[in-house]
Amino acid sequence: MTGPPSGVPEPAAAFAGPLLCLETSCDDTSAAVVRGREVLSSIVSSQNELHAQFGGVVPEVASRRHTELLNEVVAAAMAAAGVGWDDLAAVATTQGPGLIGALLVGLAAAKTIAYRRRLPLVPVNHIQGHIAANYALGVEAPFVCLVASGGHTLLAVVEKGVAYRVAARTMDDAAGEAFDKGARLLGLGYPGGRELDLLAAAGNARFVSFPRAVPRGRDFSFSGLKTALLYDLRGRDEAEVEAHRADIAASYQAAIVHQLVEKTVACTAGEGLRRVAIAGGVAANAGLRRALTERCEAEGLQLSLPPLSLCTDNAAMIGLAAGFLPALPWPTYLDLDAFASDSEARAARPARRRPRAARPAAPA
Ligand code: KG4
Ligand code: ZN
Repeated sequence: MTGPPSGVPEPAAAFAGPLLCLETSCDDTSAAVVRGREVLSSIVSSQNELHAQFGGVVPEVASRRHTELLNEVVAAAMAAAGVGWDDLAAVATTQGPGLIGALLVGLAAAKTIAYRRRLPLVPVNHIQGHIAANYALGVEAPFVCLVASGGHTLLAVVEKGVAYRVAARTMDDAAGEAFDKGARLLGLGYPGGRELDLLAAAGNARFVSFPRAVPRGRDFSFSGLKTALLYDLRGRDEAEVEAHRADIAASYQAAIVHQLVEKTVACTAGEGLRRVAIAGGVAANAGLRRALTERCEAEGLQLSLPPLSLCTDNAAMIGLAAGFLPALPWPTYLDLDAFASDSEARAARPARRRPRAARPAAPA
């Protein structure tokens, strides 16, 4: 299994000046200015409150909100970085995977800015962005990166820059989905992962013994855990759930974390590597960060733990990845499409060249 291809290896050498970066693949509207591995600014405008009333992200609502917020967010990122339009070397944006309508808002904005200023454009794969967040901390490839978000859970063997091979993936739900669905079953607010994490901090993780057996092979599986939580809750009366909500949350979280940690450490050993990194929204989970830190210390593995702001969706990670990727020269990117899924990402073609207008026949 291979991840999407990448190109030019060294970020600092790739661009002479800072990049303006956009990320609108889901429900966070984000812009950042990044120079090499240095994040000059990063602005994230969360749409959480907007979607909370629906209990989840409504794609069409997210797209519309991106269009309302993006200009302001870009202006804030430029101002916070103290960078002028003429200083920019390129524009980078998430091309996919993600919600197609949401992606198209960022892509259209990136094309417009880049075209208007005659700049190159760097389309970035969202997963490669998550992985690249670790470069802000000075990690060096090769390393194993646990990518765990709302839509993806995989172990990436990062060989160079953001070029990676998938060593394992989830057979069913993503880890973020397991957190979000668990949170819903526990009657917690939206977004669920963070709520469950906060509640679990006050709970006893040994209260319920959820299945700890790690599935055989390298791949992850979380759907059985979710079902185990459902049956556990069904077996208790309301007062009991009320009294032990934090304990049940802590036990459920511990079972997810156990699998993530065990698989990551086993994969790193199997690959003969000594460096581990984590990425994606679930990498913000306090229980995971604690358990992985302890386990890596015990195994003598070097661990890269990005700050929470670089774990959940943000445009700075898109800029960190862009330095490793080929830039499309002005104005070849105008026909570039966004893609919703990983498989489309792999099949993605570079921007099509516009057919030249038919030339008049040369005079005889
Ligand atoms: O990477 P991300 O921001 O967006 C996607 O690319 O999906 O990840 C969002 C996911 C959601 O499922 C969210 O509940 C989960 O990450 N998440 C967490 C925490 N913060 C965000 N899960 C567990 N603990 C957290 N602290
Ligand atoms: Zn993400």
